[in-house]
Amino acid sequence: MVNQITIHADQPTGTINRNIYGHFSEHLGRCIYEGFWVGEDSPIPNTAGIRNDVVKALKHIKIPVLRWPGGCFADEYHWKDGIGPRENRKQMVNTHWGGLVENNHFGTHEFLLLCEMLECEPYISGNVGSGTVQEMSEWVEYMTFDGVSPMAELRSENGQDKPWKVKYFGVGNENWGCGGNMRPEYYADLYRQFQTYVRNYGDNKIHKIACGPNVDDYQWMEVLMANAHRHMDAISLHYYTLPGDWANKGAATGFEESDWFITLKKALWMDELITKHTTIMDRHDPEKRVGLIVDEWGTWFDVEPGTNPGFLYQQNTIRDALVAGLTFHIFHEHCDRVEMANIAQVVNVLQSVILTEGEKMILTPTYHVFDMYKVHQDAELLYSHTVTADYELDGNKIPQVSVSASRDKQGVIHISLCNLSHQDGADLNIDLRGLTGSNVKISGTELKAATMDAHNTFDQPDNVAPSEFTAFKQIGTDIQVKLAPMSVTVLELIAE
Ligand code: AHR
Repeated sequence: MVNQITIHADQPTGTINRNIYGHFSEHLGRCIYEGFWVGEDSPIPNTAGIRNDVVKALKHIKIPVLRWPGGCFADEYHWKDGIGPRENRKQMVNTHWGGLVENNHFGTHEFLLLCEMLECEPYISGNVGSGTVQEMSEWVEYMTFDGVSPMAELRSENGQDKPWKVKYFGVGNENWGCGGNMRPEYYADLYRQFQTYVRNYGDNKIHKIACGPNVDDYQWMEVLMANAHRHMDAISLHYYTLPGDWANKGAATGFEESDWFITLKKALWMDELITKHTTIMDRHDPEKRVGLIVDEWGTWFDVEPGTNPGFLYQQNTIRDALVAGLTFHIFHEHCDRVEMANIAQVVNVLQSVILTEGEKMILTPTYHVFDMYKVHQDAELLYSHTVTADYELDGNKIPQVSVSASRDKQGVIHISLCNLSHQDGADLNIDLRGLTGSNVKISGTELKAATMDAHNTFDQPDNVAPSEFTAFKQIGTDIQVKLAPMSVTVLELIAE
């Protein structure tokens, strides 16, 4: 069957917040140490201890926002351990992740410098689970207060006279689990208390983010919205895609067709989760003042054989690229509420865009999707309608093709297309309506692979890489397109 797609270029339906393309970094495995931080004396080229290659690669994909220091680590983190001369900083055991000694060499100053280098917004997660109101309040004062105060003075003594700008601040992480195993009623009260002392100093206006539900815990969302929505700017949601269960998650490579299929089917569940959570939000906040931030999402597989199980290091294949592509389409559709998302995690942990090994660095298939899709950042979502074939396996069905279209500030239209089938190509007819200009110049880029688990390695870093896409034909206002099996494609349309 020919998949029929109708795109209404004259019907924008919302703005795709660039922060949907955000990232997450935690003191976990080799994300912070090795991934970003190598120290000033490292032979790996760095600026003030932060590796240059990783910064350059992330700037290229226009990273808009970076969340730190966790994750579960956030509710064990005491920020004062990570300031001052590095040789004097306290060592601690990272009990949650691998029991390694954390030397606190990467702390507040290093993180905010990293964000400056990346030209992205910092998103800090504060400690509710094992921290105090005073500790959280002083952290905000330390980072953002411009005037006479104990914390501003301490910051100055540590070499940073001027305060930083910090817009995004999370009040706890997964407080239903690793962040304190709380009941929603209890956390809602704690949230109200803690956030009171997350102050806005001068013109630094903090966007306060409450810890939201785990996956489909609609009761958590209900209680938080009912009891605390007036005190928050946004609430988070965490959902990971596992082909199996928590005991046997499934392999990142060397998997079967059934694993391919179930992974994509489970990734598509994000749509239902957001729909149901936002329905609850709509009841309490019909003006949609409170944003939904999916600040942990992505694939979670068994760790690479031979690696520390507490480090969550996994390979990344064309399957991950498709999970990323279709998840972005879901976020776009919900852009009236979803104002940010942070894939877990940026380097060397879970669905990373970058993997490192010593001085070597590779870009994963997921990186290439972020690169190809960066054109959607801050663009207007265009109304589109897709009638697609089913992709069937063993009696189960999902839509074969996923589509999203946007128009950027220059008027350029981008259409991103995911073909989820592991074996069949897809013929599409795209009916473009409401275009201004009679002549349309079309170009395209695709990411495809020969096998379901095709990935990049340190020996073959470009095994899965984008290439020019030419399998399209323009007939009047229709575009006929032939997508390769298991591929992500972006078309660019310039109407003159
Ligand atoms: O990203 C890994 C972990 O997953 C985070 O620390 C935690 O918030 C979540 O459970």
